[in-house]
Amino acid sequence: MPNSGLTSAPARAMGVPRTKRDDLELLVNSRNPIVTVETGEEPRFVELLERVAVDLGIPLYVWSVTTGLARTGGAALYNSDQPEQALANISTVQGDGIFLLKDFGRYCDNDRISRRLRDLADGFRTARRSIVILGAEIHLPAELAADAVEFQLGLPSVEELSSGVKATLAELNRSQGIASSLDAAGVAQLAKNLSGLPEEDALRVLRQCVLRRGRADAGLLDEVLEAKRQAMHTDGLLETVQREASFSDVAGLGKLREWIGKRKCALTPEGQRFGLVPPKGVLITGVQGCGKSLAARAVAGEWGYELARLDAGALYDKYVGESERRLRKALDVAQKLSPVVLWIDEIEKAFASAGSSGDADAGLSQRLLATLLTWMQDRESGVFLAATSNNITILPPEMLRKGRFDEIFFVDLPGAAARVDLFGLHIRKRGRDTASFDLAKLSIASEGFSGAEIEQVIVAGLYTAFSQKQQLTTEILLAEIQATQPLSVTRAEEITEIRTWAKSRAVAAD
Ligand SMILES: Nc1ncnc2c1ncn2[C@@H]1O[C@H](COP(=O)(O)OP(=O)(O)OP(=O)(O)O)[C@@H](O)[C@H]1O
Ligand SMILES: [Mg+2]
Repeated sequence: MPNSGLTSAPARAMGVPRTKRDDLELLVNSRNPIVTVETGEEPRFVELLERVAVDLGIPLYVWSVTTGLARTGGAALYNSDQPEQALANISTVQGDGIFLLKDFGRYCDNDRISRRLRDLADGFRTARRSIVILGAEIHLPAELAADAVEFQLGLPSVEELSSGVKATLAELNRSQGIASSLDAAGVAQLAKNLSGLPEEDALRVLRQCVLRRGRADAGLLDEVLEAKRQAMHTDGLLETVQREASFSDVAGLGKLREWIGKRKCALTPEGQRFGLVPPKGVLITGVQGCGKSLAARAVAGEWGYELARLDAGALYDKYVGESERRLRKALDVAQKLSPVVLWIDEIEKAFASAGSSGDADAGLSQRLLATLLTWMQDRESGVFLAATSNNITILPPEMLRKGRFDEIFFVDLPGAAARVDLFGLHIRKRGRDTASFDLAKLSIASEGFSGAEIEQVIVAGLYTAFSQKQQLTTEILLAEIQATQPLSVTRAEEITEIRTWAKSRAVAAD
């Protein structure tokens, strides 16, 4: 299904933010005969469409299988509850008109209905007449899809949510006697914390939290955030993650750490006034087990942003167009969570075959990649993409072109100092005092070990100590090191290859 392609409307160029209402008006005004709207938020869309119809002075007709076809405020036309008859009736209505057909997608597989719709569409191009097909899921047959444009309702903006939040708080005060002690800024923050959810879900989460607390106070802000995280888990593709890591959990990677630290102020009012351009994202690549995923997560903790993980492997769907739709939806949610670190782990899983034309999946990954790149180009600030890749050499070159990511970092095996830090960090994490260990000796003995392998040495050492009924010691750890064959030995060639590749194309993270 073609996109509405409205991302570069003149309004935006002039710095006036374009609203969903403007988008929809433009679609109707530019004589698109069939518009599809895929959303679970029917009431919100209907309200929007009603306002657009009034603004444009075009009569609005609404059809559903239970009510038949009726002009707003008028009586249903005779026998119009049958889908095909409804289309016949539409053809007899003269002049301008917007015809909203609820759940009509499911009838479009029928040959007669599909044909009738296409005949209607042909006649519609000369007047301000549009059929709007609304449903939670719409799969049009290919011949109809060619005539249709898609309108994306998207999730409600923070401003839209604000009025619902205010109304809900007022209603809870009236019906339950729970007065709100939040000031205007608190209410605004509440709406912000709920954004990313459809309006109905957001307000349900709010109501539940207030009733559970029995209060609407400052503590509600965190409670709502946590409840939203849980509500969003169901999506599968994008999930918000508790940000438990920061750079104090990362050993080494000094350059990356410094880069991230410098950009912490990007979104502060001072930074904005000074003219700082918010960063778009980094790609972290390198040797296995050296902290790529950990570092990507740590950015959120470092900046105090939300952390949302996009599961690249779960993008694929057997229906044509479905994968792109899901990706767009996920990116839309991410935008609403801003400020957020969008973490895509092992990005090559979703986009790698876009580079190779022979692959059966290549077409799909190419379209997914295009969706992602367009989004990276267009999106407003407040979303920082932290992507990791184990094999950057198979990523399509478009993704690696200058300007896509702000920087590509290469994470190598930890050096001697970083290994000291790694032992220190992970020994402390297991509740042991580092003073009783010879960290320098451990570091020397573990040359060529990755961070994950060093962590594994400690995990295994604890088992050995426990089974020997003694405390963990340097000697036990040294013995574990001796018994380990690190990947840098077993897969030396592969690692040399990654290093050579990265030298000319990426910045060393340490
Ligand atoms: N630099 C590091 N500092 C602290 N811990 C580390 C570091 N590198 C690895 N670790 C430990 O090893 C674990 C695995 O690391 P992580 O998953 O981040 O590596 P990766 O580079 O993403 O590996 P993979 O290529 O397998 O995805 C981490 O959770 C952490 O406990
Ligand atoms: Mg990883």
